[in-house]
Amino acid sequence: MKIVLIGYMASGKSAVGKKLASILKYDFIDLDSYIEKKENKTVSEIFSQNGEIYFRLKETECLKELLNSDLDFVLSLGGGTPCYSNNIKTIFEKSESFYLKASINTLFQRLSNEKDHRPLVAELDSDKLKEFIAKHLFERAPYYEQASNSIITDGKEVTEVVDQIKKRLI
Ligand code: S3P
Repeated sequence: MKIVLIGYMASGKSAVGKKLASILKYDFIDLDSYIEKKENKTVSEIFSQNGEIYFRLKETECLKELLNSDLDFVLSLGGGTPCYSNNIKTIFEKSESFYLKASINTLFQRLSNEKDHRPLVAELDSDKLKEFIAKHLFERAPYYEQASNSIITDGKEVTEVVDQIKKRLI
C-alpha cells in the first residue's frame, strides 16, 4: 500500500510519517528530501538557483515516479505538492491519502520556529507570516480537502495522529 500525507507547511507530515512508517514497517519517504538527493541541493538552493517553477516540475516528476512504482511506503509531501499539475488526482488514484488539517493559529505557532529552511516564508516577519498563512491556506485547502481522509491535528501529539490514521487503515 502507498500512504500519502498531505498538509500545509509545518502540519506535522514528516513527524507523523516517520512514526507511522516505523509502526507499519514500511519505508518512509519525505518528498523534499527525495528531491534534494536527486538534485544534490537543498530545497532553498533549488528555489534560489533554479526558481520555484523548476522546483514544482521536479516535485511533480518525483511524485509520479514514486506513485507509479511497485513500492509500498509512507510518503510525506511538500505543502504545495497537491496544488500543482493536477497532482491531487494522481495522489487520489494511486494512494490512500491523509490530509493533516491544522488551524491557522497552530500553523502560525509551529511555522514561526521552523521557517528558515522554507523559502516561501523564510523572510516574513511575524505579522506578515500570519497573513500569508491565512491567505495561502484558503487557496490551498480545496486541494487538500480532496484527500481520501482528513485528520484534525490541533492540540494532538504525533502518536495520537498516528493512531487515528491506523484506525482508518483497518
Ligand atoms: C512548500 C513546502 C515545503 C517545500 C517547499 C515548498 C510549499 O515542504 O516543499 O519549501 O509550497 O508549501 P514542507 O511542507 O515540508 O515545509
